[in-house]
Amino acid sequence: MENRVVSGMRPTGRVHLAHYHGALKNWAKLQHEYECFFFVADWHALTTAYSETENIEQNTYDMLIDWFASGVSPSASTVFVQSRVPEHAELHVLLSMVTPLPWLERVPTYKDTITRLNDKNLNTFGFLGYPLLQAADILMYKGTKVPVGADQVAHVELTRDIARAFNRNYGRDAEWLDLAKRALGKVPKKIAKQYAEWRKQYTEQGVSERLEAARALIYDQTHLSVDEMDRLVGYLEDGGRRILPEPEVLLTDTPLVPGLDGEKMSKSYNNTVLLREEPSVLEKKIQTMQTDPARVRRRDPGDPRKCPVYSLHKIYSETATVNWVDDGCRSASIGCLDCKSPLIDSLKKEQDGFHERAAPFIEDRSLVHNVIEKGSEKARVIARETLDDVRSAIGISYR
Ligand code: TRP
Ligand code: SF4
Repeated sequence: MENRVVSGMRPTGRVHLAHYHGALKNWAKLQHEYECFFFVADWHALTTAYSETENIEQNTYDMLIDWFASGVSPSASTVFVQSRVPEHAELHVLLSMVTPLPWLERVPTYKDTITRLNDKNLNTFGFLGYPLLQAADILMYKGTKVPVGADQVAHVELTRDIARAFNRNYGRDAEWLDLAKRALGKVPKKIAKQYAEWRKQYTEQGVSERLEAARALIYDQTHLSVDEMDRLVGYLEDGGRRILPEPEVLLTDTPLVPGLDGEKMSKSYNNTVLLREEPSVLEKKIQTMQTDPARVRRRDPGDPRKCPVYSLHKIYSETATVNWVDDGCRSASIGCLDCKSPLIDSLKKEQDGFHERAAPFIEDRSLVHNVIEKGSEKARVIARETLDDVRSAIGISYR
């Protein structure tokens, strides 16, 4: 089974360094390893801010330019806008039929966000359905790897539950058992025996690792057709054909990027370093950035662990420089401005690359428009295939 990567980001406008290190840098790498679908989740933006729509277009364009600046390439991956692929809405409706309400109510981000954003009206069907819409985004492309941060893990888990519920309900056509057995007949005897044993251990004793192992075993049987594989994988769980594959989270080690005040970097805290700053603004931002408060005077020693500048050094500097900071700070042999100087240089150098890659898109915004058009059309081809399959499994593909 080939891996497909799917991920989205809400259109919040210009991107900052926490977005870059937390997601985009990784996306730019993944696009060379997997088939990738990256999209602007503009409907998701509506779920928490349905009355603030005036900036969506601008934010989408600004964000996409920063994706490209980060190295996400429209020729290496499929880049599109969610609302330009209305099939996502149809899949959302169809999946909603098998999604029990309590599954949505108990997603941790649901109650948390309502408490956190108590000045907003989140008492809407749209907001409750947020993770279900995300499930539709992922399942639409039969995504098997979903690179997201820890805060999104629960959404991917819900997606797995929904895929399983869907397959259980609609994967059992009249001959599902016969077809599974017939497919098993095409597998070498020894493999079939292993499969049967693992299936038994999973279904009767609940040994969950056996499920993964048996799935892998089936996907190795390259002489089987996709339909045969899907049936055997479905049968492992006493289900019929596996129509929608269960995705996995792709958690990557991403460094925590502190904001200018040492808090988490976030637009709402007004403490960001954008991906593309004017060099003079960048310099100013770092020069005035929070340091260890113990260093009131130049001769006061500090503790780098209490300083967000040091966290940035660990991301941007060579070991020798990090050690120089560590020693110099503790012994007060360097001042904070000395300490920040090589950091400013590294940041500027990195940003030169960002500015360069963004330039053609800033000059001619129709290039961004073209990416959206092409990417959305490419995504729709797959989306239509998935929906054909989904509709026929449900039994509503009649004319
Ligand atoms: N909910 C995600 C976030 O806020 C964005 C998102 C929407 C997403 N659909 C997705 C992420 C599908 C991964 C896959 O960050
Ligand atoms: Fe922070 Fe560097 Fe100043 Fe130490 S010397 S407090 S690490 S800026």
